[in-house]
Amino acid sequence: MEIRVTGGDITQAKADAIIVNLFEGVTTPGGGTGAVDKALGGAISQLIAQGDIRGKPGELTLIHTFGKIPAPRVVVAGLGKQKDFDIDAVRNLAANLARYVRKPGIKDVATIAHGAGIAGLDPEACAQAIAEGGLLGEYRFLKHKAADNDRQELASFTIVEHAAGQVEKMAAAVARGVIMAEATNLARDLANEPSNHLTPTDLAARATEVAQANGLECEVLERAQMEQKGMGSLLSVAKGSAQPPKLIRMGYRGRAGEGWDLALVGKGITFDTGGISIKPAANMEAMKADMTGAASVIAAMGAIAKLGPKLNVVGIAPCTENMPGGNATKPGDVVTAMNGRTIEIINTDAEGRLVLADALCWAKELGATHIVDVATLTGAVTTALGDVAYGLMTNNDAFCGQFESAASAAGEKTWRLPMWKEYDELIKSDVADCKNSGTGNRGAGTIVGAKFLEPFVGDTPWIHLDIAGVDNMPADKGWVAKGASGYSVRAMVNLAVSMAG
Ligand code: BES
Ligand code: ZN
Ligand code: ZN
Repeated sequence: MEIRVTGGDITQAKADAIIVNLFEGVTTPGGGTGAVDKALGGAISQLIAQGDIRGKPGELTLIHTFGKIPAPRVVVAGLGKQKDFDIDAVRNLAANLARYVRKPGIKDVATIAHGAGIAGLDPEACAQAIAEGGLLGEYRFLKHKAADNDRQELASFTIVEHAAGQVEKMAAAVARGVIMAEATNLARDLANEPSNHLTPTDLAARATEVAQANGLECEVLERAQMEQKGMGSLLSVAKGSAQPPKLIRMGYRGRAGEGWDLALVGKGITFDTGGISIKPAANMEAMKADMTGAASVIAAMGAIAKLGPKLNVVGIAPCTENMPGGNATKPGDVVTAMNGRTIEIINTDAEGRLVLADALCWAKELGATHIVDVATLTGAVTTALGDVAYGLMTNNDAFCGQFESAASAAGEKTWRLPMWKEYDELIKSDVADCKNSGTGNRGAGTIVGAKFLEPFVGDTPWIHLDIAGVDNMPADKGWVAKGASGYSVRAMVNLAVSMAG
């Protein structure tokens, strides 16, 4: 779907449907909605008077125009109360609209810039949010399904802006929104892909493609190179699998000089059976998405390259299956990470932290001054936050604040969990420097995961994102699509842009 901005009068738009809007409580529509109402001989006002249109949030009313204006259909979108309407609402509205107008006969849609009129929101921010919402809302993963009548796709979504002076800036904002949404949809595609179609080798190939398409550095370390580096923690997870592990590194250089201002590190378990500590069968298929962190990092790197902020960013994705093969790591085994730290493996299902440990060591070795890791790390984060927000743990207040702003601008909710030293007790081992999971059920599972990772970053400002509660969604809702959600991609891209100043 192509997203455009044109100057002009929405009533004259030649589209299969045009979209206008209404705040709750408004009886005489103004702006673009008012103009369309007039052109339709007061049809919208009449529907308001009759109580058919109330402007409630989520309300979408289809009106047929029968030749009164060039477009055969008008959709009136309810915006809810004006005081509650913000950029997040614009993005979610655009997403819901993209799904609503996906009907036979509707290919080209024109819309007014929701939020930019009487709502008083920044027109550029609205344009970006409409582009993001439109593309995120229309996303579906149909690759492995036979074609059917359900395959309606929109061809174009055009924002018609009456203020000609705004068009150029809004078009640039749309271009940014398209980059953001396409990156998110790439991460979704990778996470939705079944594990037999996306092994660590396949994922490395996809990362290489993204790097080539965007002028990024890319290297993929093989098992032997990981052995040479002493990555015994990462490799311990790969031991039970017939698939070779891959350690992906992508590099974006946006400023002169060496060094990395930001490392993005993503968990890339292309399937998590649990290993010898095998998971129950129910819902195990969801573990094809246990590489969502890696997918998010790969996709974010591509978007960062397209946006071109002036900083250097390195993306790292440790990728392997977690399988219970004959050579698999067993509970009680002790392994050594790249920095010499020894780990007693209590539960082979706590594998994400094991692959991240060596990836974080590598980020440090590469000289990253700030690190964000992103992982579907613990089921416990769902207990804490449900599918509404993802967990954030950090060793640095300022960096945390910067990330929280970046996430909020992306319409993503994140919630900080504490890293008090009392939790260190839970990963103390009798036989090694630490253990990979608490023994017995002493709770705080998400924090324990972060506490395990903390010593591998030392005092480098670091943020750990546990996205296990939001990576897979049960239904479409606003910008979130059913299945892989794409959470964290746009937040990380926003962070990189904001760090470049
Ligand atoms: N990949 C899982 C976490 C997960 C659970 C992601 C549900 C998405 C949905 C992770 O590797 C895992 O199994 N974690 C264990 C850790 C425990 C053994 C300490 C968990 O959460 O149970
Ligand atoms: Zn696991
Ligand atoms: Zn896992």
